[in-house]
Amino acid sequence: MKKNIVAVYPGTFDPITAGHVDVIRRAAKIFDEVIIAVNGNSLKNKKPILPLQVRVKLIRGIVKNISKNIQVDIFRGLLVDYLKKKKVNVIVRGLRAISDFEYEFQMALMNRKLAPNVETVFLMPSEEYTYLSSSLVKEIVGLGGKMKDLLDRNVEKTLKKFLKIKK
Ligand code: COA
Repeated sequence: MKKNIVAVYPGTFDPITAGHVDVIRRAAKIFDEVIIAVNGNSLKNKKPILPLQVRVKLIRGIVKNISKNIQVDIFRGLLVDYLKKKKVNVIVRGLRAISDFEYEFQMALMNRKLAPNVETVFLMPSEEYTYLSSSLVKEIVGLGGKMKDLLDRNVEKTLKKFLKIKK
């Protein structure tokens, strides 16, 4: 019998960018199901600009046009506890550059320590997105720059609204 392999792609997605979407597309081709798990924990080091439900809605609006095997959910608490609850043991993360490696390596090994049956799979987004990050997007949109194809138009519009930028 064929195994149904489900993967969780966790993140803050404040906001979702073309780089995240690139990883989601790749994951949806490899795994039978992909759950995009939006981090609902209050973060000490990151204060999201977009409220949680807005981030979820924006992601849903994008993935509905990608593939039927993608779901969007919110998780709170430890990621490994969410995986356990969902009976999933694969985490997908994007690796943009060497600079991501140390942080990702640390998280993957810590998650493995917490839940030895969990594997983290790294996918590389297209090189045109390696320099893209949600913080840069917020800074550029906040200063009136245009994101072109690096951000979904609806995401850009919503971000402008939350950054209180006219037009
Ligand atoms: N394209 C564009 N940007 C990307 C990207 C891609 N493919 N992949 C990552 N990024 C960027 C994001 O935009 C974000 O940028 P920012 O820092 O400027 O906001 C940054 O890389 C990292 O963001 P993200 O991928 O959303 O991850 P995160 O670090 O916000 O989230 C969690 C990490 C949610 C997976 C982690 O904090 C977690 O598991 N938390 C739950 C609590 C827990 O279990 N802790 C123990 C972990 S061992």
